[in-house]
Amino acid sequence: MGNPNVVVVGATGAVGKVFLRILEERRFPVERLRLCASPRSIGKRIKVNGEDLPVEATTPEIFDDADFAFISASTAVSRELAPVAAQRGAFVIDDSSAYRMDPKVPLVVPEINAEDLEWHQNIAAIPNCSTTQMVMALYPLHKANPIKRIIVDTFQAVSGTGNLAIDELREQSRTILEGGSAKASVYPHQIAFNALPHIEPFMEDGYTREEQKMLYETRKIMHAPDIAVSATCVRVPVYFSHSEAVHVEFTHPMSPEEARELMAAFPGVVVVDNPAANEYPLAIDAADRDEVFVGRIRKDSSHPNGLAMWIVSDNLRKGAATNAIQIAEEVVKRELLKPRG
Ligand SMILES: NC(=O)c1ccc[n+]([C@@H]2O[C@H](COP(=O)([O-])OP(=O)(O)OC[C@H]3O[C@@H](n4cnc5c(N)ncnc54)[C@H](OP(=O)(O)O)[C@@H]3O)[C@@H](O)[C@H]2O)c1
Repeated sequence: MGNPNVVVVGATGAVGKVFLRILEERRFPVERLRLCASPRSIGKRIKVNGEDLPVEATTPEIFDDADFAFISASTAVSRELAPVAAQRGAFVIDDSSAYRMDPKVPLVVPEINAEDLEWHQNIAAIPNCSTTQMVMALYPLHKANPIKRIIVDTFQAVSGTGNLAIDELREQSRTILEGGSAKASVYPHQIAFNALPHIEPFMEDGYTREEQKMLYETRKIMHAPDIAVSATCVRVPVYFSHSEAVHVEFTHPMSPEEARELMAAFPGVVVVDNPAANEYPLAIDAADRDEVFVGRIRKDSSHPNGLAMWIVSDNLRKGAATNAIQIAEEVVKRELLKPRG
């Protein structure tokens, strides 16, 4: 089989733009690349690998000769388009939450559960960005000493909501610094100079949907149906990279030294943990990097089997675009693409 034909839906979005940059960086081999977005972007042009490509209408026919369809638009768009693309023979890699908990759809972080791709039915999902970085850091620990319970508080960047939220933070910050009063439209409250304990709708149990995703997606990716996760997800006025304060209870005690060694040996995880020199992971350092950074690793003084830590990663890269391209690379390597036609 030659190089794959690729369709990117959501090519003008926060994730889509980074995705195209990473395609170039990783030299992902592509025969024909087609870009789609909403009707308002049709006709715009985007340069990829030196080629000036038009943004096209997202029609069912566009998937006809596609080997891969990367869908990074919204849950509603994915619900509608993923089955259409899959039915027309494309392998769909979906960034939304539409199919993540579907038992027929592998939910994949390649460093952890690439083998789940083997049972695909032409759709694979990437996890929520806050889940991906947490499981990347915790999986090597879980393999050595099964995790029973995780308590996580997130500090999530506005780019996790997309282009409009990035613009809103910029606009509100400027207005307030000039002495004006901010207008909120993307979020229910002002995000500039604020922290919102509210990401996605509230559910019946008092958690938000984002917080529930951290529970159910962690269990599915790590094949650990009994892990308990209690999350509080907070939006903060940061442009790029999510940060997480994580408290983990293991089956047996684990020393911070052992945890550091296990995480440092895991692909894609970098330990930055020298508080004496003020060295710990920071959102601005993680931005535009693919790795997941972990620091402040210490005994949890409230539990004999507990550790506490701080996990930071770029939500648009490992939290979305990089993970999606790694899945495609894994699909190619495992020869899981159906022959075209
Ligand atoms: N942001 C993150 O950190 C992150 C992480 C993991 C997963 N995700 C998921 O990735 C997806 C995209 O997120 P984002 O942050 O990139 O959002 P975004 O910045 O708002 O971009 C949305 C993209 O979807 C396109 N789009 C909207 N309606 C469409 C339609 N009817 N048909 C085709 N394209 C349409 C938009 O096109 P226009 O430019 O023409 O409006 C734009 O390219 C979401 O499902 C999100 O949950 C995001």
